[in-house]
Amino acid sequence: MRRRDFVQVGLAVAAHAALQVPATHAAAPSRRIPYGSAVRGDALVDDYDYRTVLAEHCQLVVPEGGLKWVVVRPSEDRFDFYEGDKLLAFADQNGMKMRGHTLIWHGAMPDWTSSIRGAEAAEKAMTKHIHTVVGQYKGRIPSWDVINEAIAEDPRGSDYLRPNLWLENMGKGYIETALRLAAEADPQAQLVINEYDIECVGEYYENRRNALLRVVRDLRDRGAPIHAVGFQGHLKGQYEIDKEGVSSFVAELKAMDVDVLVTELDVIDNLLPADEKKRDQVIAVRVTDLLEAISDANPPTAILTWGITDRYTWVPTWFTRDDGRLNRPLPLDRDYKTKPMMDAIKRFAARA
Ligand code: G3I
Repeated sequence: MRRRDFVQVGLAVAAHAALQVPATHAAAPSRRIPYGSAVRGDALVDDYDYRTVLAEHCQLVVPEGGLKWVVVRPSEDRFDFYEGDKLLAFADQNGMKMRGHTLIWHGAMPDWTSSIRGAEAAEKAMTKHIHTVVGQYKGRIPSWDVINEAIAEDPRGSDYLRPNLWLENMGKGYIETALRLAAEADPQAQLVINEYDIECVGEYYENRRNALLRVVRDLRDRGAPIHAVGFQGHLKGQYEIDKEGVSSFVAELKAMDVDVLVTELDVIDNLLPADEKKRDQVIAVRVTDLLEAISDANPPTAILTWGITDRYTWVPTWFTRDDGRLNRPLPLDRDYKTKPMMDAIKRFAARA
């Protein structure tokens, strides 16, 4: 065993052991619709309070970055499952299930993948990745974001798919191929196409919902194993939820025997009022409106937020507030205190 691997194993064992939370903490109560959160691997090890609130509130976890190509694939011939294994150990220790995110995406790709050229090389690389990664966790990760963000930023007409290495080398059939490869590796897993900006009012959002429906219809016509659509749910707080549009979208999916889940819920609040109470209330309304709009047609199989505390969120990377106040996109504040967003999620999940 190479020294790095020996160290990794040692660290992994230590980290897994250190990931315990106080036995006094009752596991998250089971709710009609499971709630969970994306998890940062570094905070999971370093932050005791973080681990504690995850165990208290979550029935599900998903790695925010731990199973992306840039982490799992340091080189063409190596796989690094340290982060995935670490989170799975935490999930196992705390009676949680774990989602997989994400197998095929334009983002977070290691530099070496830019040398993949041509349909044969791309399919070979996709096959090796999906078979190995899904196979590694067969029977232990029951739901995968197989395809992430396949729709063009602003889809119109024939250009409805987002350019990425797979589309450029394999054509639009890459989506069906990825789903079939995942089904081969774990026939029991829920296979998900995950998308953003399909929730709100306006032509931009409606175009994206219609483009995604076109993809799903095509897959269903071809008998491809597509089981659910993931609403990422990165809601821009200043926009209303298109309740009618979302409900009819979900109803069309249900008619094709395709479920939905909410995979990355948070509310981008850079353009919401400065007053925290008012901001939190608007955020809770947007969350409730989305969950109700979905559920009016078909209850989501799961609700996950993209992080659980404002202490660890991607939102300020792109959406800082002009008034310099900190963003409040998640269910718990920076001190792990519950906010109206968490109350809204739990109220909905309990009664749905
Ligand atoms: O881990 C390295 C660290 O070693 C290095 O020092 C640092 C220097 O910049 O980078 C760190 O990696 C960062 C990684 O997050 C872990 O924190 C990457 O730069 C950064 O790009 C990466 O951002 C993540 C992003 O996806 C890209 O993978 C965000 O945290 C994550 O919230 C975001 O999540 C995406 C979903 O996967 C898909 N849907 C949209 C969502 C938000 O963009």
